[in-house]
Amino acid sequence: MDRYVVTGNPIAHSQSPFIHQAFADQTGQQISYERLLLPLDGFAQGIADFVQQGGLGCNVTVPFKTDALAVADELSERARLAEAVNTLKVMSDGRLFADNTDGAGLVMDLKRLGVPLTDKRILLLGAGGAARGVMGPLLAEQPAMLVVTNRTRARADELASRFASLGTVSRQPLDALQGSFDLIINSTSASLQGERLTLPASLCHSGTHVYDMMYGQEETPFMCWAAEQGVSHRYDGLGMLVGQAAESFYLWRGVRPNMAPVLQALRTRLE
Ligand code: ATR
Repeated sequence: MDRYVVTGNPIAHSQSPFIHQAFADQTGQQISYERLLLPLDGFAQGIADFVQQGGLGCNVTVPFKTDALAVADELSERARLAEAVNTLKVMSDGRLFADNTDGAGLVMDLKRLGVPLTDKRILLLGAGGAARGVMGPLLAEQPAMLVVTNRTRARADELASRFASLGTVSRQPLDALQGSFDLIINSTSASLQGERLTLPASLCHSGTHVYDMMYGQEETPFMCWAAEQGVSHRYDGLGMLVGQAAESFYLWRGVRPNMAPVLQALRTRLE
């Protein structure tokens, strides 16, 4: 059977096998998709073994997204810009094609949710790997502006310059944010440490949408902040998880699955 894996360290928590199996069932494809735990210093060898054993594709998660860049023989433009890889495809000649579907997954989810992007003012909180992965695909939707803000200013500066040629990108200091936005996306990992960003209420207007790339059983601190500002359009990142998987599935299988029923099933499963 055509074999795929998701690799990371740790990996036991990954929902990718459930998602991809659901896509395969929905589209009538026969695949096996498993978790592959690799040692922290053993990514390249683990992937080489997987290819040797006939594996066809691999999703890559923390902490291997940069290691996956290094093993690539061919790189998509979006992976090059993101400087990170979440999807590897073994080509017919055995070489590895590397892609990053995270940003496409976010945009796919925003479109599913009916969040307008073109000509809109977008604020991106955070300038780490997660932010870098989504900036290209967001700019491709031609927002009026994309403002990046980050606790460590230099990282926001670096990202803004890196993507400046793709659209109207600017940066603002996190402790002196100005203006209001149509969409505010949280890419920071602050909530993982249970920390809450201090943000001014003036960022939101009556039609603002907020999206947290994080998800969990309870509302994240960022989502709670948005609720306190009276924002009714609040979304967590579970749909982005399913969206990036759908884009990987398409890369491997050439078929676009319908993400909505799979997202619904995943949400029920995690409740
Ligand atoms: P990831 O790959 O998840 O983006 P990362 O590259 O370590 O992980 O980036 C984490 C992001 O969350 C960064 O933007 C980080 O800000 P710094 O660049 O200043 O470190 C941000 N972050 C994490 N904890 C935060 C907190 N408590 N307050 C504000 N920003 C925080």
